[in-house]
Amino acid sequence: MSVIRSVVAGCGSYLPEKVLTNADLAKMVDTSDEWIVERTGIERRHIAAEGELTSDLGRHAAERALADAGMGVDDIDLIVLATATPDNTFPATATTVQAQLGMYHGAAFDVQAVCSGFVYAMSVANNFIAMGQSKGALVIGAETFSRILDWEDRGTCVLFGDGAGAVVLRPEEQPGTREDRGMLTAHLHSDGRYKEKLYVDGGPSSTGTVGHLRMEGREVFRHAVVNISGAIQEALDETGYSAAEIDWFIPHQANKRILDATAKRIGLAPEKIIMTVAEHGNTSAASVPLALDVALKDGRIKRGDLLLLEAMGGGFTWGSALLRW
Ligand code: ACO
Repeated sequence: MSVIRSVVAGCGSYLPEKVLTNADLAKMVDTSDEWIVERTGIERRHIAAEGELTSDLGRHAAERALADAGMGVDDIDLIVLATATPDNTFPATATTVQAQLGMYHGAAFDVQAVCSGFVYAMSVANNFIAMGQSKGALVIGAETFSRILDWEDRGTCVLFGDGAGAVVLRPEEQPGTREDRGMLTAHLHSDGRYKEKLYVDGGPSSTGTVGHLRMEGREVFRHAVVNISGAIQEALDETGYSAAEIDWFIPHQANKRILDATAKRIGLAPEKIIMTVAEHGNTSAASVPLALDVALKDGRIKRGDLLLLEAMGGGFTWGSALLRW
């Protein structure tokens, strides 16, 4: 029986111009290039310019994704933007991007699942498309984490960067088998008991301030490998694919050691990991589409390839998605 699948029609990304290297950070806090590279794999990250907002990064990525798809705003009716660093407490940054794109129809809203945001947003948009409620959707991950970092806390400020990535999804009728193009699975999870392990110590309803990111790094690391591996296994179990049949693993880029440990645990060859953490740092909800765009533009990902996306972030939230390009 044929089904409606969400097929990726285009992809785009945007990184702010300013680059902050590990050597730059060593002048700001008691750290070293050697420590950061050895513990995280991060070498540099991009930082948004003064006055450059999450919506600006998101809009650039969205415009590039639409151009890549050969589509315009008249071809879409939904924007789902994943961010934990919105321009304002409200309205949703998605509506600002919508206006900037000159789109005055359809619906736009934000999804808040921190580093898992893009996987969550893909799943939400996929459901709209599968239900026949959208004929084209922009899914954006955009973050300015530099604005919520405590730049005196060496345990966190060295890890994150700013950026945005986006994809355009459109419905396509497919035979309804695991060989179909488009989104094949999405598995989302959260467990609010772990709030204190990774959170921002401010907010409109608690302190009336924006706050700073706080993290128990070692604890997050421990849960990340277990949770991510579990969500990946669900995707494999549902489709009957084995890890060896995955063409490209496009994970949330938090830490090279987390990615290596996860790949090892699920039996994925290291050369199949799309790794951008060295260049981008952890860009939260933007990291998966940023990595996807890098591997598309350099020609690694080809039509028909089976892609495995995953992420884990504050909440905790985590999830996976399997899709055929
Ligand atoms: N430079 C130098 N030394 C540092 C730095 C730094 N930037 N940061 C911490 N240290 C010190 C600590 O103070 C500590 O010193 P001590 O032993 O004298 O007390 C020592 O290094 C070891 O600290 P740990 O926190 O135990 O180091 P660890 O090996 O766990 O690495 C890290 C820390 C990189 C944060 C790691 O735990 C990690 O990556 N965790 C995952 C967190 C993550 O990725 N979060 C992102 C969001 S969630 C997600 O996306 C999965």
